[in-house]
Amino acid sequence: MARVVFDHVSKHFGAVRAVDDVSFDIEDGEFICLLGPSGCGKTTTLRLMAGLEQPTSGRIAVDDRDVTFAKPKERDVGMVFQDYALFPHMTIAENIAYPLKVRGAPAKDRAARTADVAQSLGIDHLLERRPGQISGGQQQRTSVARAVVHKPKVFLFDEPLSNLDAKLRVEARSFLKHLQVELGVTALYVTHDQAEAMALADRIAVMEGGRVVQMGPPLEVYRKPATTFVANFLGNPPMNLVPVKLRLDGGRARLQAAGLDVAVDPGRASRFRDGADLTLGVRPEHLRLVPDAGEATFTGSVYTVEPLGPETLITCTVDGQLVTARLFGDEPPELGDTAHFRIDEHHLELFDDAGVRVER
Ligand SMILES: Nc1ncnc2c1ncn2[C@@H]1O[C@H](COP(=O)(O)OP(=O)(O)O)[C@@H](O)[C@H]1O
Ligand SMILES: [Mg+2]
Repeated sequence: MARVVFDHVSKHFGAVRAVDDVSFDIEDGEFICLLGPSGCGKTTTLRLMAGLEQPTSGRIAVDDRDVTFAKPKERDVGMVFQDYALFPHMTIAENIAYPLKVRGAPAKDRAARTADVAQSLGIDHLLERRPGQISGGQQQRTSVARAVVHKPKVFLFDEPLSNLDAKLRVEARSFLKHLQVELGVTALYVTHDQAEAMALADRIAVMEGGRVVQMGPPLEVYRKPATTFVANFLGNPPMNLVPVKLRLDGGRARLQAAGLDVAVDPGRASRFRDGADLTLGVRPEHLRLVPDAGEATFTGSVYTVEPLGPETLITCTVDGQLVTARLFGDEPPELGDTAHFRIDEHHLELFDDAGVRVER
C-alpha cells in the first residue's frame, strides 16, 4: 500500500500537451479511476506513474519518496495493460512469475508465490498452458496475477476490461472490485467507460484535453458535475442539457426556452443579468411524467420509446431538442404522444455560458 502524489505534472509530445498540469493525491488503499474520452491523456498519466514516460515538468512521489525520474522497477508498481501484453511463448506460470524473475527472486519462491496467486484468481489449472490456449477472461486474470505477484505498492490498470465481451466485462469488474477490497491496494485505473468508473472507484478523476476537470466520489461527480462536459460524460443516457434564457422579473427568476418554462430560486441566478444564456441540466431519472400541461415544466412530442425491462427510456423532441426521460413503473406514453414532464427544482442543475456549474 502506498500514498501517491502528482504535483503539477505535465507531459508534452512536441506541440501535444498529452498531460497538462495535473495534480492529485491518492490515499493509501484508495481506488482512483481516471475517466475520459479517447486521447484525453489517461494512458500517458498511467505511464508517467509507471516510469515508462518521464514528465516534461512536475513531480511524482510515492510515500513521500520522489520517484519522478526513477526507473519502472524501482517504483514497485504492477501494471495491467489493455491488451494484457502476455508473452506468447511463455507458459501462464512463466508469465505470472516474470516480475519476480526480473527482481531476482529464487526459483522456489517464484513457484510458490505463482501457485498462490494463480489459485486466488482461479487460474491454477492453466499454469502449463500458453496465452493462445486460454480464453480472453483467463488471459485477463493472468495479466492481473502478473501485476499482483510481487505485491506492488501501487496497481495500475489501463482499460483492462475493454477486450472482454459485455457479460464477461461485468463479471470481471465485480471480481476486480472484490480483489481490490480484499487486498486493500492503492490503485490507479484508466477507463473511458463511465459505468466501470462509477462501479469501481473510491474517487473518479474526469480528464479532458490532458487536464483533470473534476475529482470526487462517484455520486458527487454524478450529482454535481463541475462542467457540462462532465455532465455529458457520466450517466447512460447522460444528463439532459438544454440551452435556456434567464428571465428576471420583480425579484423572481425563470428559465425559459421554446416549450420550456421553470421557476428557480432567484438566489441561484443572482450573479446573472436578465436575458443571460444558461444551460439547464437534468438527469433522465429526474423527469416526472404529469397528466396535464398546467403542472408541467415542459411538453414534448414522443420521438422514441425504449423498454429496457425495469425502466423505459422516453425521448421527446422539445422544439427540435431531444430530451430523454427514464421512467419506472408508469404506463409509458407511446410514439407520437404529447407528453408533459415536470422537473423538481432541487434536481435541476444550472451551468453558465462557459459550461461551468453554478453552485447552489
Ligand atoms: N508517444 C507519443 N508521441 C506523440 N504523441 C503521443 C504519444 N503518446 C500519446 N500521445 C498523444 O497524447 C494524447 C494523449 O494520449 P493518451 O494518453 O494515449 O490518451 P488516452 O489514453 O486517454 O486515450 C493524444 O493526443 C496522443 O495522440
Ligand atoms: Mg489509452
